[in-house]
Amino acid sequence: MTDRTEDVWRKIALHPDPSLTELFADPGRVSMLSSRIELGEGMGGILFDWSKTHLDAGLLKNFEELAQAAGFAAARDALFAGEIVNPSEARAAEHTAQRGFGRESSVEEAAALHHRMRLLVEAIHGGALGEIRHLIHVGIGGSALGPAMVVDALTRDLALVDVHVVSNVDGCALEEAFSACDPRTTLLAVASKTFTTIETMTNAQSALKWLADGGVSDPFGRIVALTASPEKAVEWGVDETRILPFPESVGGRYSLWSSIGFPVAMAVGWDDFAAMLDGAAAVDRHFAETDGAQNLPLRAAFADRYYARMRGCQTRACFVYDERLRLLPAYLQQLEMESNGKGVTADGQQVTEPTAPVTWGGTGTDAQHAVFQLLHQGTQLVPVDFIASIAPGDELDPAHHRILLMNCFAQGAALMAGRKSEDAARNYPGDRPSATMLCDDLDAATLGALIAFHEHRTFANAVLMGINPFDQFGVELGKDIARSIGQGGGSFDASTHALLAAAGMLEDM
Ligand code: F6P
Repeated sequence: MTDRTEDVWRKIALHPDPSLTELFADPGRVSMLSSRIELGEGMGGILFDWSKTHLDAGLLKNFEELAQAAGFAAARDALFAGEIVNPSEARAAEHTAQRGFGRESSVEEAAALHHRMRLLVEAIHGGALGEIRHLIHVGIGGSALGPAMVVDALTRDLALVDVHVVSNVDGCALEEAFSACDPRTTLLAVASKTFTTIETMTNAQSALKWLADGGVSDPFGRIVALTASPEKAVEWGVDETRILPFPESVGGRYSLWSSIGFPVAMAVGWDDFAAMLDGAAAVDRHFAETDGAQNLPLRAAFADRYYARMRGCQTRACFVYDERLRLLPAYLQQLEMESNGKGVTADGQQVTEPTAPVTWGGTGTDAQHAVFQLLHQGTQLVPVDFIASIAPGDELDPAHHRILLMNCFAQGAALMAGRKSEDAARNYPGDRPSATMLCDDLDAATLGALIAFHEHRTFANAVLMGINPFDQFGVELGKDIARSIGQGGGSFDASTHALLAAAGMLEDM
């Protein structure tokens, strides 16, 4: 958001806006806006089809100019070089170093920490802590959403250890995990970057008690801590040999690749965890080395910015046509909304453009029978992402997967083409944009690549807006007020006071 970027936006605003159907008169459209990222020898790839968006050659040129005016190449280099890209906290953002891409010293540190994690994972698999059949992982936000999503996606057939990720401080969540586990064969992973988060520490304390009550003579001996604050984990009682640290420069919502991924490695084994890192690294390579609109996360960000700013889209939806990815929309919500839901630029100026839209979504085909009505005929324009895999995840009659995919493709086609009808209630206006990510298969490498694609898309959006995607001060105020309620202090508005009274919580204050 500088004079230079605003000049480019003025050009973008003057761009003619043909309909999608008109844009498809260009026979080269699909090859211009649809390309693959190959994940490496024998690893398959992902087709990224952005042809059903309103991007065209002219807009791509304008957006390339916008990227240049916003300093995209320098910002990307700074990210990979481990420079400070999070100015409000004076930090680098080195999640890519966890995948082998970044400042040399950070890549070496990540490799050493991964080695230590691997030794612990393999020792536990080998019986070093006795028989371990279950793992309760307590963490929240970035310390839970990634492990929960990846474990759910990759352990449909077989899990080496039965993992339960518990994030909510509502005791019902932990009780549900307890009822599925036997304390005598359960390991507890406490995942918290800061090791101070009240929900996680409360859950950890209760899980520790559950182990003790269940007859485990040394419950602390069953705890593994995953944290960037190892000293706090020691203080809490975890033995140093079972603390898996990760660097401060790895942000919470970008931390799946670090020791926060411990339950993934426990559930699927080290080789698949490493494959997930490799898949992500393939996208890092693409993002680092590809210029202009051929850079697919950047191209996606062009469309995101176009719809948010030029078409007033306040939301973007992601529909996964794959049951294994059912937790991905929730993961992307944190990634995108906590990163780019900001009101000021990186240098503290009030933003004058809409920042991140609301990310939402669900699973296809279920969502078709629930929310797609609004997508097809509602008054709001919602750009949609579809994600699917060519290879099925199931071994049933191939009809299942064929029906799944044909529905996925039909929805994109229907949103775009619409269907005119004399009967207004049956009229579909069409010209509604979508993008499709079609994976060859949904294995660990592909999942890593999909997540890394969205990380870089989020970063590219932030650069185009001039905002800092790596802090999250917006979450602090509510925590402060909850803390003052907990400490029995503070004065509250009349409504909050009345709610506290109704819940019988004023007596404690
Ligand atoms: O409240 C937001 C947040 O700070 C997220 O950014 C983070 O992923 C989550 O809380 C958990 O924090 P921690 O890993 O320090 O427990």
